[in-house]
Amino acid sequence: MAVHFMLMALFTACANAGALPQYFTACSSSNPHLDQCIEQVISAGGAKFVEGIPELGVAPLDPLQLGKVVVNNPALKLTFTDTVVTGLKGFKLNSYKMNGARNKATIDFTANVTLKAHYEIDGQVLILPIRGNGPAKIKITNLNIVIKYDFDTKDGHWVVTNYKDNYKMDHAYFKFSNLFGGNKELADTTHKFTNQNWEIIMQEIAPPAIKGIIRSCVDVVNNFFGSVPATELLL
Ligand SMILES: *[C@@H]1O[C@H](CO)[C@@H](O)[C@H](O)[C@H]1NC(C)=O
Repeated sequence: MAVHFMLMALFTACANAGALPQYFTACSSSNPHLDQCIEQVISAGGAKFVEGIPELGVAPLDPLQLGKVVVNNPALKLTFTDTVVTGLKGFKLNSYKMNGARNKATIDFTANVTLKAHYEIDGQVLILPIRGNGPAKIKITNLNIVIKYDFDTKDGHWVVTNYKDNYKMDHAYFKFSNLFGGNKELADTTHKFTNQNWEIIMQEIAPPAIKGIIRSCVDVVNNFFGSVPATELLL
């Protein structure tokens, strides 16, 4: 009996520790408009969620510490270190769709993001040589990310088991300070050229950088799912 009470106490303590933050209101699984309900929950509480939930040990997504991002192309070596991404807080949800019977869901959102890092570049963009190191800033407008994921319930918690992503953007603006060791004329020409050809450059940078952002989003959501029982997320 004592053991029983101790377990009860423990479960209660865990349930409290894993309480859903107040800015989220759980939807009911019997809601005939469940997707719309979840869309409203994400739109209303998403910006707060993105700041992280310290009491649950859920890391922030804005600012997002992305660490090292490496572009390793035979013609272009580019490394970003201490990469920090901001702007996800202002994301706009385009749609959320869940197929509970098949354990699948899709989230589609758009955000203006800025990536800041220390860069080191050496190689060629098209035919133009590019070389330098220093602070870099990349502004991406209307970065649209679609994540289709599979989820499972393990020990009463949802877990994202697999996902596929797609992304596109309106535009990217680069600022690489100190190109060519500060040779202004060469740096200005190269800067202009990289910004005119932003799509070609983003084709190289986007896979490691944006995939990193998406992976972080999935990791954070999984961490959140691990902290809050599924029955509190969907009544
Ligand atoms: C991104 O910025 C542009 C221009 O400032 C604005 O029109 C657009 O609505 C913004 N997008 C998002 C998702 O906030």
